Amino acid sequence: MRILVLHGPNLNLLGQREPEIYGRWTLAEIDEALVAQAHHTRTELRVLQSNHEGVLIDAIHDARLWGQGILINPGALTHTSYALRDAIAAVGLPAVEVHLSNVYAREEFRHRSVIAPVCLGQISGFGQRSYLLGLQALIEHLLALA
Ligand code: DQA
Repeated sequence: MRILVLHGPNLNLLGQREPEIYGRWTLAEIDEALVAQAHHTRTELRVLQSNHEGVLIDAIHDARLWGQGILINPGALTHTSYALRDAIAAVGLPAVEVHLSNVYAREEFRHRSVIAPVCLGQISGFGQRSYLLGLQALIEHLLALA
């Protein structure tokens, strides 16, 4: 199995960025933990972080040629990007949305995700564990289909 892992804008700064909200793990540490977890189920991850919406959209389009699912933390694009949402809907790959912070316990503009309706589900508020829980949920979903 092959899964696309996407990190949206500003997530390259994890570790330094508002650690009281997002924790102290760097993105590289999160990616390493994800790859280790995926390894147990012989799942290959292709990981990309970008601060540019179009780059994320291109990666989603490409994934339809090689991937079975998408794990995504869209960052602030969660709340604004109809284009990202449409890309996920267009390729039809099962996607899981994750957030480090509990977006529902924060500012009101974070309470709405335009991405969540085209995802299998969303995991929010468990720090770096949100990614690991999201990956587990996605892999279990894909295995159940196989
Ligand atoms: C985030 C939550 C978003 O609201 C925010 O814009 C981010 C990170 C999270 O992982 O908690 O960049 O997606």
